[in-house]
Amino acid sequence: MAQRLTIDRPSDGHLHLRDGAGMAAVVAHSARVFSRAVVMPNLSPPVVTVDLAAAYRERILAALPSGSAFEPLMTLYLTDSTRGSEIRAAKDSGFVVAAKLYPAGATTHSDRGVTGIDRIAPVLAELAACGLPLLVHGEVADPAVDIFDRERVFVDRVLAPLVERWPDLKVVLEHVSTREGVQFVSASSPLVAATVTPQHLLLDVNDLLAGGVRPHHYCLPVLKSREHRQAVTAAATSDSPKFFLGTDSAPHPRSRKECGCGAAGVFSAHAAIELYAEAFEAAGALDRLAAFATRRGPDFYGLPRAAGSVTLVRQPWRVPASYPFGDDVVVPLRAGETVAWRVIAEGEAQ
Ligand code: DOR
Ligand code: ZN
Repeated sequence: MAQRLTIDRPSDGHLHLRDGAGMAAVVAHSARVFSRAVVMPNLSPPVVTVDLAAAYRERILAALPSGSAFEPLMTLYLTDSTRGSEIRAAKDSGFVVAAKLYPAGATTHSDRGVTGIDRIAPVLAELAACGLPLLVHGEVADPAVDIFDRERVFVDRVLAPLVERWPDLKVVLEHVSTREGVQFVSASSPLVAATVTPQHLLLDVNDLLAGGVRPHHYCLPVLKSREHRQAVTAAATSDSPKFFLGTDSAPHPRSRKECGCGAAGVFSAHAAIELYAEAFEAAGALDRLAAFATRRGPDFYGLPRAAGSVTLVRQPWRVPASYPFGDDVVVPLRAGETVAWRVIAEGEAQ
């Protein structure tokens, strides 16, 4: 069994950094290991223009620990009134790399999201023309559909027709969580890909609900059955270029998770690459971790490979019970428990 693994600095294809003091508290966790991240735009109010994305990017850069080389790759939040001209401006900006489709009502801060694909048809045409990817939160918000079926139904009702109508559009099914999602992406053209989170590789619905409700395992898309987790794991650890790392690390204050109606989101930035290493090791696929974490995402986005490397050693460490998060704390994935892999600091003797 490999005890030590060196890979290029990875890229996070899907990250929630929040804003203000919370963002300043969490961004260093990502910058510690990742060379860059695709930053989600679901702030309140959301990042709907290139100007807002530019200002948010500056705030992120200003909050980075000195000396860190971390590139925030910005995204635009699509609404029913996003114009094609904003997409063109995004492409010209150089720092906006994608647009995010939140079906209205599907998840955190999605109330200004898109109410019907027809409403953004000119925007999708412009994205395809510019070569900018459409990032999709792939769940229907239809209250008549069970929460466990929302991704599968989205694939049938929304994603399949969308990909057929815009065959030249790059599309990422974010945080894929079902066998049907995996199958759709696998069967689609090379322009259709998916990100995979650590929680959808390591956990299933029993880890959310069996023996007590674990609010820190609650995220959207919700954790599925073991069978779906196995399908997602098989895809991530395969040699397909379509499945790549996107943590969906989504911090919420502890008080918003441990309450009568807890927010969706798993915070994993403190140990993301380490947790992926566990999942890949368990699948007997550690040799694929580098491609998944460092090459496939940048290749899909047309970005250069990142400079620098990180070294992981198989040396268990205990995750703290919480980390500072603005005027509250955030409870991380594996809080108080151990993670099998550790990133060694540059120059650290091992
Ligand atoms: O669990 C989630 N948390 N899923 C999302 O889609 C949004 C995210 C958040 O922003 O908290
Ligand atoms: Zn997300």
